[in-house]
Amino acid sequence: MSARPLRPRRSVLYVPAVNEKAVAKSGTLACDTVIYDLEDSVAPAAKEEARERLRDHFKAHREARQERVIRINALSSEAGPEDLLAARACKPDAILIPKIDVPRDIGDVADMLAETDAADTIRLWAMMETPKAILNAAKIAEWGETPGSRLDCLVVGANDLAKDLRLPGAADRAVLRPLMTQLVVAARAFGLDIIDAVFNAFRDEAGFAAECAEAAGMGFDGKTLIHPLQIEVANRTFGVSPEREAVAQSIVAAFDLPENRDAGVIGLDGRMVERLHLEDARRTLALAAMQRAD
Ligand code: COA
Ligand code: MG
Repeated sequence: MSARPLRPRRSVLYVPAVNEKAVAKSGTLACDTVIYDLEDSVAPAAKEEARERLRDHFKAHREARQERVIRINALSSEAGPEDLLAARACKPDAILIPKIDVPRDIGDVADMLAETDAADTIRLWAMMETPKAILNAAKIAEWGETPGSRLDCLVVGANDLAKDLRLPGAADRAVLRPLMTQLVVAARAFGLDIIDAVFNAFRDEAGFAAECAEAAGMGFDGKTLIHPLQIEVANRTFGVSPEREAVAQSIVAAFDLPENRDAGVIGLDGRMVERLHLEDARRTLALAAMQRAD
């Protein structure tokens, strides 16, 4: 399995590329990742204006504190090829491809990137939002093992998925939950990150907090967001809490003791702790350090 660099992706904010004010302020927000969107949030007549705005923004801001991703339209759609050319020229950290059905949908974009970016610096993210993506989740995630695939991260698109499944209205999360768990399994099986879907009612803070807590409990790395109001709760819920950090420190310290150096399993504060927990504790501490450096 290829080792991908560890990155906090607690809060992943969509910014419509057509919204001048939102794009201008995006770099100042406390989210881990910004997804500049050329797809669903941009009307067909505004696509070229949106691409132009992104070209200008990336030219003016060559570096950013956050990870920066551009969501293009599907390559098979009318806007897709132009979007990909514009996104490639911006040199973002990654390009997010919507409506993936099969691994080839990612491969086609990777092939075009290879023409100008032989070093694979622009990575790929895949939206999992069609019934076929659910059926093919394992194959899509496994495709990330292919050399040159560039795939780092899956993003759940619940609005599109609910529409394609013909789910009625807003009570669909319960129906989607088992499907989302399949996606988490597929991502983990092949070392990918996976980000939960958006919560549409952006002024309902309690509802949003509950959905973040549920997603964190399901194993998601973070949540996609639609409004700056949602950033703080996502950072807190998906971040490493002081309590979790303290537990991780005690696990690392315990295995560092001379008498435990070669132990496979130890008792700590009345609990069994195995070497697998040590691996997780080290990851937790690395993430906590990144959060603090931010
Ligand atoms: N990113 C950056 N800034 C944003 C933002 C976002 N996603 N959403 C809102 N803001 C900014 C607005 O520009 C506004 O800034 P201002 O005070 O400088 O004018 C401020 O936050 C307050 O916005 P507000 O009036 O509360 O929201 P709204 O009613 O104008 O917009 C949405 C609501 C949902 C249309 C808007 O938040 C949005 O477009 N979200 C992203 C949608 C998207 O990308 N969808 C596709 C993926 S699902
Ligand atoms: Mg969509």
